Amino acid sequence: MSNNLLAGKKGIIFGALDEKSIAWKTALACHAQGAQIVLTNAPVALRMGEINKLSEAIQAPVVGADVTNMDDLKKLFEEAQKHFGGKIDFVLHSIGMSLNVRKGKHYTEMDYEWNKKTLDISATSLHRVLRTAWDMDALNEWGSVVALTYIAAQRVFPDYNEMADAKALLESITRSFGYHYGVRKKVRINTVSQSPTRTTAGSGVKGFDAFIDYAEKMSALGNATAEDCANYCVTLFSDLSRYVTMQNLFHDGGFSLTGVSEAVINSIMPPSDSKSIAQ
Ligand SMILES: NC(=O)c1ccc[n+]([C@@H]2O[C@H](COP(=O)([O-])OP(=O)(O)OC[C@H]3O[C@@H](n4cnc5c(N)ncnc54)[C@H](O)[C@@H]3O)[C@@H](O)[C@H]2O)c1
Repeated sequence: MSNNLLAGKKGIIFGALDEKSIAWKTALACHAQGAQIVLTNAPVALRMGEINKLSEAIQAPVVGADVTNMDDLKKLFEEAQKHFGGKIDFVLHSIGMSLNVRKGKHYTEMDYEWNKKTLDISATSLHRVLRTAWDMDALNEWGSVVALTYIAAQRVFPDYNEMADAKALLESITRSFGYHYGVRKKVRINTVSQSPTRTTAGSGVKGFDAFIDYAEKMSALGNATAEDCANYCVTLFSDLSRYVTMQNLFHDGGFSLTGVSEAVINSIMPPSDSKSIAQ
């Protein structure tokens, strides 16, 4: 259903790898709500070719950019503004990659060169994107930037490894740059902390299947889907959320504020046993 919440708005979406990607669903949702989009991903991801299907479906050009390369980012913002014939209203940062996870290194045995790369791709990249837009004055007043994050920034999830540190940095950059961009141009910057979701990046985390089931049991509403995350991003790009900035917004069915749930207790201890303990 479309309410044309983004009619006339123009946005750049980073990170649509395949149709499972949260960025892919967000691009579809933004298009359905009337937005014009430019898609971008790392050159190596573009070589997979999947993104061309999305590009055709929503008539969005694709501009390759490695998010750790300032020249690529400058070219992306130049080409996007040329395509739109003006400045940009919203940006989705939907990027994550951990070299230590990918190469099976335990957190306590971290390779620091890989860690530098992980932090650059997954966190500092948000600063790079914002800095590029800032230097070029490429965002309209009341523009909106959303980056995706995970609750491992606040709580320990051992197998999330170095990505926990990357997400903590990402959320900090959101607050710090959110202040400066708010003062200068009323641009708002937020992170959305999403439930575990079956995507390429998500499935790279060890024990992901068990973990997703646990999160489902721990969330009053169940895990939030990628489509619902996309819809939430639409609201944050729209004019209906203009005074929300510098926030980490949980989109997780209630997981973040739940200590324990009946479903989790029942999975550890049958209901008859737990009743006798409660008495
Ligand atoms: N899947 C989950 O369980 C989950 C939960 C919470 C938050 N998130 C976050 O959501 C975001 C999107 O991930 P996803 O789950 O849709 O997975 P995904 O694998 O579909 O997306 C990750 C994207 O990052 C891109 N990327 C990696 N290196 C890059 C680089 N150097 N330059 C540009 N792009 C690069 C990849 O090409 C890919 O498109 C990530 O920030 C992820 O941490 C995911």
